[in-house]
Amino acid sequence: MNEFGSKYKIGIFGSSHGLCVGARVDGCPAGSAISEAVIQSELDRRAPGKGQITSPRRERDRLEIVSGLRNGKATGGPIVGLVRNADTDSSAYDAFLKVPRPGHADYPAMVKYGGHHDHRGGGIFSGRMTAGLVIGGAIARQVIETVGVRVLAQTVQIGNVSLQKDLPFSVAERIVRNSAVGCADRKTAELMTEEIVKAHEERDSVGGVVKCTVIGVPVGVGEPFFSSIESAVSAMMFSIPGVKGVEFGSGFRCASMRGSEHNDQYVIRSGRILTRTNNSGGILGGLSNGMPIEFRVAFKPTSSIARPQKSVNIVDKKPVELEIRGRHDPCIVPRAVPVVENSAAAVILDLMLQGGFI
Ligand SMILES: Cc1cc2nc3c(=O)[nH]c(=O)nc-3n(C[C@H](O)[C@H](O)[C@H](O)COP(=O)(O)O)c2cc1C
Repeated sequence: MNEFGSKYKIGIFGSSHGLCVGARVDGCPAGSAISEAVIQSELDRRAPGKGQITSPRRERDRLEIVSGLRNGKATGGPIVGLVRNADTDSSAYDAFLKVPRPGHADYPAMVKYGGHHDHRGGGIFSGRMTAGLVIGGAIARQVIETVGVRVLAQTVQIGNVSLQKDLPFSVAERIVRNSAVGCADRKTAELMTEEIVKAHEERDSVGGVVKCTVIGVPVGVGEPFFSSIESAVSAMMFSIPGVKGVEFGSGFRCASMRGSEHNDQYVIRSGRILTRTNNSGGILGGLSNGMPIEFRVAFKPTSSIARPQKSVNIVDKKPVELEIRGRHDPCIVPRAVPVVENSAAAVILDLMLQGGFI
């Protein structure tokens, strides 16, 4: 498979119902202190089986480091980490080779690979592959934290329920990490959970938005044009299955604003150059400007739903009514929060290494 990054590279491998899923990471500076327990705790946040709002599948996701770490430090060689697949039930998936599921990669993958692909559990298109992104990202976050960079992702919208508050980073971080739905406000989290449960009861699914904030990034990280912060972050975010939109700062709202409203005006606070607003999302010309980097990632409603749907048999070209059985997340968003957060850390580390900041 292809890989992400220029100086800090992540390649993910495995498949949903094969032996394992994991990541190979190149470019982690030798001697970096990397705790396997931290990587494991990020994998635990991503794992399903959290009550009514995620799939009851029991993916234990125990991290195994194959190479690249010794005595808690990066060796400078490739770091290979994986989690073995367990609790797999591939029995239902053969049928999707002939009758593709709406909203899944079944049909284009069948045409592209001529049926040779590993289709079990969605194969390489499965959300399970994001365990590799979490491994690569959780290594990166430990490196950028040593220079004061912190990353937080949180759920700000599920279906029609949106978070209206903007809590300080550290407060939000504490609450989000203890919230099954990943929301920084308890009341809103309850409403979001109800929204997910309702969709599930109606044999349907629901989407949402994850907001990500990166603080402590020095001014000037990012390269103009093709390795701008926006380019690199969106390339990573759009790699996550189910992502349909990424916006920075004011995002698409900027189209209806005037320049006088959108421009972030400069101020000096305690000798530091800041801006009064952050419509740019902390990025100007593709470079960090010292304000928090802020972006939002829109996830579509989970494709696998229990309701009957229209499909076709691609062999005899006849219409088919398809019913998908099995254990699926009624909403991807809660499990995607640590994926967005850790993969964003990998992007920032890559850009900091490119610019000589680390
Ligand atoms: C953490 C995570 C878990 C996911 N779980 C499911 C799931 O249980 N059922 C499902 O239909 N899609 C799930 N997805 C999304 C699908 O993998 C994705 O929609 C599908 O492969 C098609 O890719 P696309 O939506 O990017 O076009 C999940 C995605 C992520 C990031």
